[in-house]
Amino acid sequence: MNTRWIVVALFVLMLAACASEPSPVPTPESTLASPTDTPPPTAAATVPAAEPARPLPTEQGELFSGSGTCTVCHANMVDEAGNDVSTDVFWRASMMANAARDPYWQASVRGEVISNPDYGAIIEDKCASCHMPMARFTAYAGGGQGKMLDEGFLDSANEWHVLAMDGVSCTLCHQIQKDGFGEPSSYSGGFVVDTDRPAGERVAFGPYPVDEALAAVMQGASGFVPLEGLHIEQSELCATCHTLYTPYIDAAGEIGGEFPEQMPYLEWLHSDYRETQSCQGCHMPEAQGGVRLSITGGDPRSPFRQHVFVGGNTYMLGMLNTFGKELQVTASGEQFADKGARVADQLKNRTATVAVQEAALSGAALSVRVAVENQVGHKFPSGFPARRAWLHLSVRDGDGQKVFESGAVNRDGSIGGNDNDADPSAYEPHYRTIESPDQVQIYESIMEDSEGEVTTILLRAARYVKDNRLLPAGFDKVAAREEIAVQGGALEDEDFLGGSDGIEYAVDVGDAQGPFTVTVELLYQSIGYRWADNLRRYDSPETARFLGYYDTLPNLPIVVASETVEVE
Ligand code: HEC
Ligand code: HEC
Ligand code: HEC
Ligand code: HEC
Ligand code: HEC
Repeated sequence: MNTRWIVVALFVLMLAACASEPSPVPTPESTLASPTDTPPPTAAATVPAAEPARPLPTEQGELFSGSGTCTVCHANMVDEAGNDVSTDVFWRASMMANAARDPYWQASVRGEVISNPDYGAIIEDKCASCHMPMARFTAYAGGGQGKMLDEGFLDSANEWHVLAMDGVSCTLCHQIQKDGFGEPSSYSGGFVVDTDRPAGERVAFGPYPVDEALAAVMQGASGFVPLEGLHIEQSELCATCHTLYTPYIDAAGEIGGEFPEQMPYLEWLHSDYRETQSCQGCHMPEAQGGVRLSITGGDPRSPFRQHVFVGGNTYMLGMLNTFGKELQVTASGEQFADKGARVADQLKNRTATVAVQEAALSGAALSVRVAVENQVGHKFPSGFPARRAWLHLSVRDGDGQKVFESGAVNRDGSIGGNDNDADPSAYEPHYRTIESPDQVQIYESIMEDSEGEVTTILLRAARYVKDNRLLPAGFDKVAAREEIAVQGGALEDEDFLGGSDGIEYAVDVGDAQGPFTVTVELLYQSIGYRWADNLRRYDSPETARFLGYYDTLPNLPIVVASETVEVE
């Protein structure tokens, strides 16, 4: 290590300590403008924004640094429209910054270990590789493996605890090299990070060429040299963690093969978006005009990509906010509320549409044709298999009395008529026509184990028995490779195509009198009822904590789109 670096680093650490203490002076975080449109009520948005932000860690490892080392300078960023677009503010409240604290993730790892006791060490190592990547990579580079539960990374006495809890952080993404991009070796957390360069001389790749003097400022303070590396703009960077194959254990207790658990990158690659928009294009939208990168100066840079990383998980953002003190989150209540509103806005305005294409009455037979369109750059839902979207259709008569309903949500977050919510071994098929209230169109993936039993245990899942998640535009379901193939009834449904699904409702209105009001909603839930409820089988502190939180926060869906029509 070079001494100049140590001296400057100490100075900046002091600066960081002062800057991140909560103070009565309004910080850029607390004055962050709230979005102008009113989002629908979500768990995240309704939580009082009372919790202050906590300091980011400034721990230095041989290979990685805590995010606080970077945010001393990469803060107070304002675009030409006057918006606060600060990297630290946006990143803190993202799911990636909270990937290690996430109580659902921790409960899920414990559940997997209890279900597969012979594979405990492999499971902990695997799960840590993307959710606690800095700690796990460091352990792995040193010839060890990741251990997270008990005296592992989660324990504050563990030597890698602080880096582990910093989640998917600045020095992880910014050190990923382009080696293996788009190749299977890079998937499932197979990103390549240099292990030879000494601390003090490590690089942080970015989209711009940087002037030597400015680079020296950053190196002096953080030990990292900014370096132009255009591979950072590629979807293949994200694909290193967002393409996940999970080994599965069969009935004999042996590893039976690999299961394609999360495939948003391969879905994207098989869609029209491959040509038009990268992951960054949608998940890191450009700020308006140029933005100065560092509080130490430099000219405004553009295009500047905001680290908002807005996905779909409003429910977990609400949980992280509500129980922020116990979970030691670093984002403030206001920052979580802002993120929750952005997620709700994305789900409402850039995710999918529904339309009633036709509604006709003939005697007592009401027939309604509904079209759903997916605007997402991959399947909707995608990613973690607990995500689901479904159609809620209701018909009211002239007096406002309900005469038919399919897909209503219950108070406990389960879907009325969904066989899987009622019985863990059953599930709802894909429908072309719905005729009775106990049938629901749910866009979801259902996993089964090597014996053909429906399961939510990730390491038992051998294949999908159903996958009718809405396809992105341009996705050819016949030509799709096995990992991203449509499974079940949707494969034969000629209305289920790249970008859309069409479905009929055939309703018997009996002797009810019109005019009838038909309302259709597309609803989304990030943690399906069955996934949470199955964790009740386990007796462990991690599952008890998550379920304690879960039982106090209603798992209500978000309305992604809706339409109402009248039928005479
Ligand atoms: C002392 C202030 C300071 C600190 C601390 C700092 N940076 Fe920088 N950073 C800068 C400056 C100055 C630039 C160049 C700005 C320019 O060229 O407009 C920069 C540029 C960057 C870029 C853009 C590089 C490119 O080539 O496009 C990235 C990425 C970056 N920093 C990441 C980090 C990370 C990660 C850390 C923490 C390990 C960090 N910075 C810590 C000041 C700092
Ligand atoms: C290759 C990287 C990778 C590995 C390895 C990995 N995960 Fe994840 N995990 C992710 C990503 C990416 C998401 C978010 C996807 C989304 O939001 O749809 C996620 C999300 C989750 C969630 C949902 C969290 C929430 O708040 O909704 C759970 C639970 C989870 N993972 C459990 C596990 C377990 C258990 C393991 C180990 C068996 C594991 N993960 C290993 C990448 C990984
Ligand atoms: C999930 C990966 C990821 C994480 C985590 C991440 N970044 Fe970035 N960052 C990117 C990508 C990708 C780009 C370039 C996007 C592009 O130009 O297409 C980028 C760009 C930048 C830039 C250039 C300016 C801009 O925003 O376009 C800076 C500076 C920067 N990041 C700093 C940071 C700091 C500081 C942190 C931690 C607080 C951080 N990043 C966390 C992926 C990440
Ligand atoms: C055309 C815009 C677009 C592109 C391109 C895109 N996404 Fe998304 N993504 C979205 C939208 C909108 C959502 C919210 C709806 C949803 O949850 O699926 C989303 C959600 C997600 C989620 C949460 C999954 C879920 O269903 O809850 C993950 C993870 C994700 N994207 C990763 C990626 C990755 C990785 C890439 C690149 C391979 C990518 N996205 C490309 C628009 C896009
Ligand atoms: C080191 C692994 C890693 C890399 C690289 C990575 N991610 Fe993630 N990402 C994760 C994990 C893990 C989660 C889930 C955290 C959780 O839910 O607990 C996640 C979550 C997300 C989410 C939130 C999904 C939701 O349901 O709300 C989005 C959006 C996202 N990532 C986008 C990106 C984009 C875009 C890139 C590339 C610029 C990227 N990620 C690179 C590991 C990674």
